[in-house]
Amino acid sequence: ELTDTTSLLLSRIRDVADYPEPGVMFKDITPLLADPAAFMALTEALAGIAADTGATKVVGLEARGFILGAPVAVRAGLGFIPVRKAGKLPGATLRQAYDLEYGSAEIELHAEDLTTGDRVLIVDDVLATGGTAEAAAQLIQRAGAEVSGIAVLMELGFLGGRARLTPSLDGAPLTALLQL
Ligand code: PRP
Repeated sequence: ELTDTTSLLLSRIRDVADYPEPGVMFKDITPLLADPAAFMALTEALAGIAADTGATKVVGLEARGFILGAPVAVRAGLGFIPVRKAGKLPGATLRQAYDLEYGSAEIELHAEDLTTGDRVLIVDDVLATGGTAEAAAQLIQRAGAEVSGIAVLMELGFLGGRARLTPSLDGAPLTALLQL
């Protein structure tokens, strides 16, 4: 049985067939972002996870994790830290590579944004293979901080991201508002 929030969020995600390539069903969150009641409900739910996990900072993953994570940080009264695709941050960074289906990618964090004792909630729109979130967790740990949890709007369970991520989480919870 779905809660009111779950059914509201679900109703605002649009399935786009064969995007970005044939055979893929893309989960488009732009209808949710355009609906202030749904966007607020999502923000409140994720900010609740930040509080429940004792987070001291919120990390958002480029690009959709920025859209979701920034209001969560403000609502929770915490600082927002962007994890960006490599080459976009001007200061001293930590860089982490991760595997994609074909090839690899790199993400970066401003090293000075986190310190020992920080507990960081990672926010993103979707957990797919878990590669991006795993690399983000590694960056946070390399910066001397701890992951308080990972919170995503959607988990694509059939891709096995949760199992891949678990060893990097040291017992911190991975919470998905929707299982798709
Ligand atoms: C998507 C999504 C997640 C990630 C999930 O981002 O927003 O960050 O992929 O995939 P994974 O669990 O298999 O790593 P994308 O890399 O497409 O970047 P974008 O948001 O900048 O388009």
